[in-house]
Amino acid sequence: MKGSLTLQVFGNFLNNLRSRLTVSEIVGQKVKLTRKGREFIGLCPFHHEKTPSFTVNDEKEFYHCFGCGAHGDVIRFLVEAHHYSFLEAVKELAGRAGLSMPQDFAEKKEEQGEDLGVLRQAVQEASLWFHKNLFLSKYGESLRYADRRGLTRETLKKFTLGYAPEGRHNLETYLKEKGFSEDILLKVGLLARSEENSLPYDKFRRRFMFPIQDQKGQVVAFGGRLLEKGEPKYLNSPETPLFSKGKLLYGYYYAKEEKAPADPLIIVEGYMDVISLHQRGYKGAVAPLGTALTEDQILLAWRLSPEPILCFDGDAAGLKAAARAAERVLPLLKPGYSLRFAFLPHGEDPDSLVQKGALFNSVLSQAHSLLEVLWMLLTRGKSFKTPEQKAALQKQYTGWAQSIQNLDVRKSYQYAFKDLFYKNIIGTKFVGKPLFPVKKGILNFLLIYERLLLATLVNHPNLLDETSDDFAFLEFKGAGLQDIRDAMLRFYSEGGHKDMNLKEYLHHEGFDTELNDILSPPVLIHGAFAKESASLEEAREGWREIFNRIQTDLGKSDLKAAQDYLANNMSIEAWERLKMLKKSTLVKS
Ligand code: UTP
Ligand code: MN
Repeated sequence: MKGSLTLQVFGNFLNNLRSRLTVSEIVGQKVKLTRKGREFIGLCPFHHEKTPSFTVNDEKEFYHCFGCGAHGDVIRFLVEAHHYSFLEAVKELAGRAGLSMPQDFAEKKEEQGEDLGVLRQAVQEASLWFHKNLFLSKYGESLRYADRRGLTRETLKKFTLGYAPEGRHNLETYLKEKGFSEDILLKVGLLARSEENSLPYDKFRRRFMFPIQDQKGQVVAFGGRLLEKGEPKYLNSPETPLFSKGKLLYGYYYAKEEKAPADPLIIVEGYMDVISLHQRGYKGAVAPLGTALTEDQILLAWRLSPEPILCFDGDAAGLKAAARAAERVLPLLKPGYSLRFAFLPHGEDPDSLVQKGALFNSVLSQAHSLLEVLWMLLTRGKSFKTPEQKAALQKQYTGWAQSIQNLDVRKSYQYAFKDLFYKNIIGTKFVGKPLFPVKKGILNFLLIYERLLLATLVNHPNLLDETSDDFAFLEFKGAGLQDIRDAMLRFYSEGGHKDMNLKEYLHHEGFDTELNDILSPPVLIHGAFAKESASLEEAREGWREIFNRIQTDLGKSDLKAAQDYLANNMSIEAWERLKMLKKSTLVKS
């Protein structure tokens, strides 16, 4: 009886609320709307579009998108577009409309609040239990694993890392004895139901456990990694009333508490990267939870730093992920806020790199701006000789600029794109910049050498015969270079190809990007011997010279020493020494 009465009161209240608010006003705070007859139109905030199909009708009190079907009233809009919960949205709107919340509404919220409290306790208890397990001698393998990964005791404690042992009912029994119901444990995703007999069992077993903290530092979920090889390598808590993985960043709480304002916020891929970076003093490391970066996560990151640095693998997949992030951030940009993009050397992740010394610093210092990355995505590996090609390019960057909602930033991008277009495209025989443009930094010195070695052999495949032993032995650091080297050796070891020469073969194998990169002017300018026009003799000598430099460490040993020094003494002098060294080596070549 009471329930239905309450519902009726609710219903009336909501109707009253809707009638007092103007949809276009509320929506207009996020979406730029233009009047069109009785309606407003604009670019839909729920899907990516370049021509408006999103409409708002104030009389009918709803919004509707003809593109993606998004539809709802003011309350729904706050829930969908601003990620309020239903109650939060109603409360917020009531405030704006000058209405006070009906009594039962407020009570209902408290009920829900209590509910969450129990869920939080259950997760917290589980976290402590996992943590304690880590140090029990019967689970010695878990601590050995932590040691192997270089984690200090301090780090294990700070992140309350833990261990979930073998066995299907350990945690269940423990938490049930503590008074938590099966229902609660299922709700927070610590138990799962067997598909065969629908009986509950411990979801995390034989896994190294990473508790996931929310913004306030409370544990809300877990990630668990198998100690040995196996699938899935990482298992994460499902979405629960406490945890929605697209809205949190792993490590956010620690970054918030410990990062100095000048420290960069570094967005990496995984749990281990975050922890390993924190342990080595990079207090701004955070990671999304096994998915591509969401809008919410970008907004969250901006609370701690206006220009977070995203780290990506230096391979094709990394570039794709970077492209996705770049496009995603465009509509969100506002003055002063952006993203930067750092690309890691082949086969490394931040965890592995930071264990090797100062290289990670250099990767960070070479991070590209959003504009640079967008321009690279637009032009990489393409030529713009014909008017049609140029027009296509203009159309694409204009579209990107238009997806920027903030007018000041949009204008600024329109100008910057045009500037790049006129400087780089008009009146030149422009070929897209190499994937990783030559810039200052430790790595580049080696990377140019590596590219020269590859370029020489691409242009003079006859040399493969005499160089293949040395060539095969080299460890390339540049992104994708190891792969193209392997393809070249394959070509060679198969005795060539009857219908294709080496370049055609590499093209056929999908190495266009890398080919463009290694044969680009900024590389070849460092060694004329690598060009196709050089004689075989020049090519041979040039190749040997560079190979020897890499091997006998004319540059490398000094550079290595400087790097090591830098790793241990992060001082201004060390940077200067390194810069000078690099300059003089490049001048010599
Ligand atoms: P990686 O496979 O690159 O692992 O996954 P990693 O972080 O380098 O881990 P280690 O060094 O092998 O321990 C990157 C991230 O992707 C998610 C996890 O969040 C992981 O940290 N992931 C990966 C999953 O969610 N499930 C998986 O099976 C694998
Ligand atoms: Mn790793």
